[in-house]
Amino acid sequence: MPPKVVTAIPTVRWANAPRGGRLALVPTMGYLHDGHVSLMRAARDRAERVVVSIFVNPLQFGPNEDFARYPRNLEADLARCAEAGVDEVFHPDAAAFYPPGFQTHVEVTQVSQGLCGGRRPGHFRGVATVVYRLFQLLQPDVAFFGEKDFQQLRVIQRMTADLGLPIEIVGRPIVREPDGLAMSSRNAYLTAADRPQALALFRGLSAAREAYAAGERMPGRLIERCRSALRAAGTREDYVELCDPETLQPLASEVRTGAESRLLVAAFVGKTRLIDNARIGEQ
Ligand code: PAJ
Repeated sequence: MPPKVVTAIPTVRWANAPRGGRLALVPTMGYLHDGHVSLMRAARDRAERVVVSIFVNPLQFGPNEDFARYPRNLEADLARCAEAGVDEVFHPDAAAFYPPGFQTHVEVTQVSQGLCGGRRPGHFRGVATVVYRLFQLLQPDVAFFGEKDFQQLRVIQRMTADLGLPIEIVGRPIVREPDGLAMSSRNAYLTAADRPQALALFRGLSAAREAYAAGERMPGRLIERCRSALRAAGTREDYVELCDPETLQPLASEVRTGAESRLLVAAFVGKTRLIDNARIGEQ
């Protein structure tokens, strides 16, 4: 059955309507791929009612970023949602979602700094604000996010804990193309010449993981393995950092045996900025 599409801003009455079970939310910006579908399926397994939001959120784009050309295809998205057994799609209009005079934001200070937060000022403020508003409007019991956007996941977890929102946040693993490229709506920007270069992010992460497996523990050397793969492919690094997986602070000393860390990378492939990350060390 195709999902019901809701464009009106729900009233509290809608959110509080008798549900007979748990409500799961999967927030997205659309142009859905298998990474999004993995979240929908996980949601389907955990709740009686699944809502996917599709909203290209203007607040999280910088003035020189790709808001206007961000890929959109509602019809294909609805077909993917139907396949995944989604009950409702919330697809609001930006002018209704942020009515004139809107001026309230949610800011998660520390974990939003650095990495993508350092490179995209205001980005996580826009993300936290839209997700908070989605949580308030739809009042889910559980919400699903991908580790593809690892810093975003930590920002949302922090916001939910700090504001005491009664919502369980579930993080799910990165879904990749067969060759290893992390799926992303922005992969649609890649030209035929860019596509092989885009693999450099995954190659770099894999090279660092191999170095770790071979005994390397120094953050600088693990980072350098990743950097050299980016350079070899001719991509332009935005950042490569090895961080504590909870606080996202850069590791100051060697990776402790038995501890987990996260290697996070952003790079430009042609004109397209891509991100990826991987666990380094034990789970
Ligand atoms: P979007 O990029 O559409 O991603 C929606 C969700 O899908 C996010 O939780 C993201 O981490 C997850 N996702 C994307 N690619 C993935 C992949 N390859 N594997 C697994 N999960 C993947 O992230 C956003 O939208 C927005 O910032 C949003 C949270 C909706 C707020 O506007």
